[in-house]
Amino acid sequence: MNAPAMQGLAIQAPSYVKNAKLVAWVADMAALCKPETIYWCDGSQEEYDRLCQKLVDAGTFKKLNPAKRPNSFLAASDPSDVARVEDRTFICSQKKEDAGPTNNWMAPAEMRATLQPLFDGCMKGRTMYVVPFSMGPLGSPIAHIGIELSDSPYVAVNMKIMTRMGKDVYEVLGTDGEFVPCVHTVGAPLEPGQKDVSWPCNKTKYIVHYPETREIWSYGSGYGGNALLGKKCFALRIASTMGRDEGWLAEHMLILGVTSPEGKKYHVAAAFPSACGKTNFSMLVPPAGFDGWEVTTIGDDIAWIKPGKDGRMYAINPEAGYFGVAPGTNLKTNPNCLKSLDRDVIFTNVALTDDGDVWWEGLEDDVPGKKLPEHLIDWQGKDWTPQIAKETGAKAAHPNSRFTVAATNNPALDPAWDDPAGVPIDAFIFGGRRSTTVPLVTEGRNWTEGVYMAATMGSETTAAIVGQVGVVRRDPFAMLAFMGYNMSDYFQHWLDLGKKLEASGAKQPKIYTTNWFRKGPDGKFVWPGYGENMRVLKWIIDRIEGKAEGVDHVFGVSPRYEDLNWTGLDFSAEQFATVTSIDKAAWEAELKLHTELFQQLAHHLPKELPETKAAIEQRLAA
Ligand code: OXD
Ligand code: MN
Repeated sequence: MNAPAMQGLAIQAPSYVKNAKLVAWVADMAALCKPETIYWCDGSQEEYDRLCQKLVDAGTFKKLNPAKRPNSFLAASDPSDVARVEDRTFICSQKKEDAGPTNNWMAPAEMRATLQPLFDGCMKGRTMYVVPFSMGPLGSPIAHIGIELSDSPYVAVNMKIMTRMGKDVYEVLGTDGEFVPCVHTVGAPLEPGQKDVSWPCNKTKYIVHYPETREIWSYGSGYGGNALLGKKCFALRIASTMGRDEGWLAEHMLILGVTSPEGKKYHVAAAFPSACGKTNFSMLVPPAGFDGWEVTTIGDDIAWIKPGKDGRMYAINPEAGYFGVAPGTNLKTNPNCLKSLDRDVIFTNVALTDDGDVWWEGLEDDVPGKKLPEHLIDWQGKDWTPQIAKETGAKAAHPNSRFTVAATNNPALDPAWDDPAGVPIDAFIFGGRRSTTVPLVTEGRNWTEGVYMAATMGSETTAAIVGQVGVVRRDPFAMLAFMGYNMSDYFQHWLDLGKKLEASGAKQPKIYTTNWFRKGPDGKFVWPGYGENMRVLKWIIDRIEGKAEGVDHVFGVSPRYEDLNWTGLDFSAEQFATVTSIDKAAWEAELKLHTELFQQLAHHLPKELPETKAAIEQRLAA
């Protein structure tokens, strides 16, 4: 339903929208942003198809060859708008210390005064889409509702895939239900007669959160987590503050189910920094030697976890789709993902083949001897050939190019992925990307030791973030970029939850750290990763069952060579030593970095963490 131009600001909400606060807010935002029209999304397939066609007509989307990739599109972003902008992301709590030292902060009043002139008239000449969405199964006690106002039809169609989006949300919202208001603009108003570009955006960017009033304001970017506000902005930054206040967790974690040959089912939630293989791990196919084992996906990026009445931790995936990194995905690294991408996909910034299909670096690396395509159109619309790539190093697909696809396309989808009650968690895994120092897998001997390892996790940066790639930075709980409040208060929240869970008497999840990324002297990864990570996962399950041995060391328990199942893999004890060794000098240097982190996070840092560090230092010195 389209309303006329906004001169009189008469908001013609569809009759099924009965929430007066929502209608008033849309009117206020329309008065501020001055769109030409307002469009209330209903979430129907007809609407999705119509908006995709509009994007094709605007040159934002290219329809892929339906014989190769039915109902799929390729979008090319502006070359300046390709990843999350952490330096432009702000947590505007009333007090600076509540945002903490890891977040950019500005006082709410000052930020509002900064944003006011930017948002004033920012949607001129454009349509404001009203996008109603539920994070989590509609009506689930764990779910929450958001409404995104955006002048980007690309956002509207991506939100249809990534969330439960549509008019049913208004039924749950009723006349006075709560929602998180999310305002997004590409920041590119159109003057009368001005021709649009295929990917409007603005050099100035602000990704702003007001945790106390639970608002999100995003300006200037149309890409991924900057613009699809249900994902990082709501489901992590705002939700983490909700979790702090209400006693639950919003985590940067995949959730997987693993079923043993005896039919026993376990659930694991695992946090890895961006572009470190969460999607691959969540869809893992067990290798040879693991007959009867099955891994199923509940979520690939975000988990909302609440203590249940029985004292266990229950997790839901608040999302409904995957916004995954394309490069490196192939039939070996992630066959289930590749199958998910057969149809109904929005690709962004991958390359186009001459027969109207998509391509990215690594797509065919599983096929020995497979030649590179002779010609492609790269993500910037330029000709690409193997020769050009050799001469210039040009990538056909941007390293942070993505696919957006519904979870229901995943052949390994867990039957409980949509269960409003969530699934009980048996283990948490925290995994950084480290070429050196950190062993393949370590079990925390208790909750505090696990929290220590998660809190001090370091990882090499990836292309998911604007900035330098490959630099080790501390990424506590893989949440550095996604924490909505003071990091040390978050550590305390984890420790408090641990105590509460322990007091319940229920069996508690064990905490592990992993590192799939150690390199040998030749600079190559030593651990084969992907499906072979099942070997580590099985050790974890066996530890939960009390069936597997390990060796106690300075900061936890790790398997010996003989503790893993090696059937079907040629991996020597020497190679195993390369990925598991604990080098004293490297750990002395590593612990200095933990000291620096604790200095940075000194305000409210739980005393248990420096105490755990002191114990590790003593053991290391002994
Ligand atoms: C993501 C990210 O897109 O972490 O999931 O950057
Ligand atoms: Mn992520």
